[in-house]
Amino acid sequence: MIYPKDHPRKTRQRPKFAPYRPGEPATTDQITMLPLIKFSDLDLLNPRIEHASRVLIETVEANLRGIPTGCVLAGPHGVGKTTLATAAVWHAGARVPWLVDEEDGRLDWSLASPVAQYIKANELINKLLDPKNDYEIDWQERGIPFTVIDDVGLEQTIQFMKDPATELQRRYYQVLDYAAEGAGHGLILTTNRSIDPAANALRAMLGEANWSRILKLCPKGSLIDLNGLPDRRVASSGR
Ligand SMILES: Nc1ncnc2c1ncn2[C@@H]1O[C@H](COP(=O)(O)OP(=O)(O)OP(=O)(O)O)[C@@H](O)[C@H]1O
Ligand SMILES: [Mg+2]
Repeated sequence: MIYPKDHPRKTRQRPKFAPYRPGEPATTDQITMLPLIKFSDLDLLNPRIEHASRVLIETVEANLRGIPTGCVLAGPHGVGKTTLATAAVWHAGARVPWLVDEEDGRLDWSLASPVAQYIKANELINKLLDPKNDYEIDWQERGIPFTVIDDVGLEQTIQFMKDPATELQRRYYQVLDYAAEGAGHGLILTTNRSIDPAANALRAMLGEANWSRILKLCPKGSLIDLNGLPDRRVASSGR
């Protein structure tokens, strides 16, 4: 890893509409991105969270070795899905410019750009994959080692379509078929839909063709269910 030990942890506000082009050094108006989170910053005391972090690290490393690999982090609000997935993005490495005008030549972490990609499901489905956009999924070709799609299942209803549920499946199919059957591209999905085998709401939402592609990408043990863990937002508010 290329993080200096004592760099400050930064949380950045996500400006509206700022483009985020993974794999390229960020320019000032693209400092949209992700809060800088490392696994070593996190509380991994809970064995299920620790297990999730290990699966994520294995997933990242498989993709860096060129093996398209996926995992799913499912669970209720506040258990830490976005936080863990963000740490996975940074774990893949980042491009960080030097502060050339400073004597000690420190790295300028405020301009760091992770090599892996983070997208909110709603942005992917409702903006990028809107047919009038002509968006091409060329992530692997652009050298992005894998993509996190955060909050699958929290997409807004697709507008102006007769059958939004089928259209949602069709848009996910473009991504999942590209990832599992086309170029080969690792995906880390987070969702608050259940992935319990008895009542798999994620599978019901995405449909069988998509679910089959998820299973192809995700090795055994990489569908992680964090159901039953506490909501950290509630805990941190002192309730
Ligand atoms: N392992 C952890 N160590 C320390 N803090 C954590 C950890 N996991 C989560 N948090 C903190 O808990 C809060 C909620 O986490 P997070 O946003 O990742 O939850 P989530 O599962 O993505 O929730 P949602 O489904 O609502 O998006 C955040 O403020 C985050 O900083
Ligand atoms: Mg989240």
